[in-house]
Amino acid sequence: MADLATNFVGIRSPNPFWLASAPPTDKEYNVVRAFRAGWGGVVWKTLGLDPHIVNVNGPRYGVVYGADRRVLGLNNIELITDRPLDVNLREIKKVKRDWPDRAMVVSLMVPCEEWAWKQILPLVEETGADGIELNFGCPHGMSERGMGSAVGQVPEYIEMVTRWCKQNTRMPVLVKLTPNITDVRYPARAAKAGGADGVSLINTISSITSVNLDDWSPEPSIDGKGSHGGYCGPAVKPIALNMVAEIARDAETLGLPISGIGGVTTWRDAAEFIALGAGSVQVCTAAMTYGFKIVQEMVSGLSQYLDEKGMSLDDLRGRAVPNVTDWRYLNLNYVTKARIDQDLCIKCGRCYAACEDTSHQAIGIGPGRTFEVIDAECVACNLCVNVCPVENCISMIELEPGVTDPRTGLVVRDEYANWTQHPNNPAAAAAE
Ligand SMILES: Cc1cc2nc3c(=O)[nH]c(=O)nc-3n(C[C@H](O)[C@H](O)[C@H](O)COP(=O)(O)O)c2cc1C
Ligand code: SF4
Ligand code: SF4
Repeated sequence: MADLATNFVGIRSPNPFWLASAPPTDKEYNVVRAFRAGWGGVVWKTLGLDPHIVNVNGPRYGVVYGADRRVLGLNNIELITDRPLDVNLREIKKVKRDWPDRAMVVSLMVPCEEWAWKQILPLVEETGADGIELNFGCPHGMSERGMGSAVGQVPEYIEMVTRWCKQNTRMPVLVKLTPNITDVRYPARAAKAGGADGVSLINTISSITSVNLDDWSPEPSIDGKGSHGGYCGPAVKPIALNMVAEIARDAETLGLPISGIGGVTTWRDAAEFIALGAGSVQVCTAAMTYGFKIVQEMVSGLSQYLDEKGMSLDDLRGRAVPNVTDWRYLNLNYVTKARIDQDLCIKCGRCYAACEDTSHQAIGIGPGRTFEVIDAECVACNLCVNVCPVENCISMIELEPGVTDPRTGLVVRDEYANWTQHPNNPAAAAAE
């Protein structure tokens, strides 16, 4: 079994799978159960100064289901911990003492004033915690009070608070970023400028999951009113992966450690974050949906994958980053066509409807309701592959160099050529 032991910003854990700051890490009882199940670490549910906050007493969650009622997206209006600070600190200290090999990171959110950070940091340090994570991400409730994403949306504040924390604690400082921003590279650069040891992302995305069509209130509805919440779960993974990749390949944040968060449900999701540069991976919704034992599939799946590839965890980390590029550098001489496997086809006609109505009229219906791709029309968009209900029934096949593409009449060329070199690009023509 591949060794999954992780050292992330100097914090050691037996595997890179940490529970994100949220209900699963709200208290000793949960965290001990999580460690027993095999989680490598936790980021404790965000602490604030007393008097502790108060949550709504109605429903906290909205949900988006897949067709099989699987949870695809979760929306919440929960705030930070609603338990007294000293209770949390006592429990953190005890759990860290009892589980010294697990990562114990404590999430913090206090007013954007130096005295507040100076007040809480020594209290956390005294627990023996391994590090802190600054919650500049929660987009609801706390942001109305000038905290959470209200800080995370202003790079200057991120840099300032990060610097205060670095000056006032010996613990590694992670900065948790909000995705509710146009370009995530700016807050990441600010975190680095402030001295952050690493960044964690993403926190939740501002959202309204649904509207009750009987009382016309957004859900979750509290006495007929709703407010936006934070969206997470499998639906947000693509957004999170992109943001992680943007930071991993940005020249200004190159090498900045990243804890990847957002929709991680299986070992594959985790491996994708790691391949895009994440040094640890955090999970919330999947644990809330399926329980703590999902970590066991993550551990065995990732180990097996690494063994099969003959790679170590370090080899995988960042392996996909050099392959993330800008559109303009994609190879325009790479030509593919859709191919339908007639043995697998169940003749549902979905590919035909999609291509005929919304793509390039490149699928014909033959005798006996057979579906065939017309190469002279196929632009290789792969929409048919995406809508086909049978896995691997439609594949995209590369045309060999030297073959003529019947759609363009051009011979496929072997050499790489991108938009910056294309004759239709006015900028390329000007450069010539
Ligand atoms: C109910 C709930 C409460 C959360 N509370 C916090 C919090 O207190 N602090 C924080 O940094 N993130 C909080 N989060 C965000 C998660 O830590 C995580 O960033 C987000 O859910 C994305 O991960 P996921 O897709 O695995 O759920 C919360 C998420 C949920 C669902
Ligand atoms: S790849 Fe696109 S254009 Fe080609 S057959 Fe499929 S849907 Fe039509
Ligand atoms: S969508 Fe797939 S299964 Fe349905 S007709 Fe097309 S190729 Fe066959």
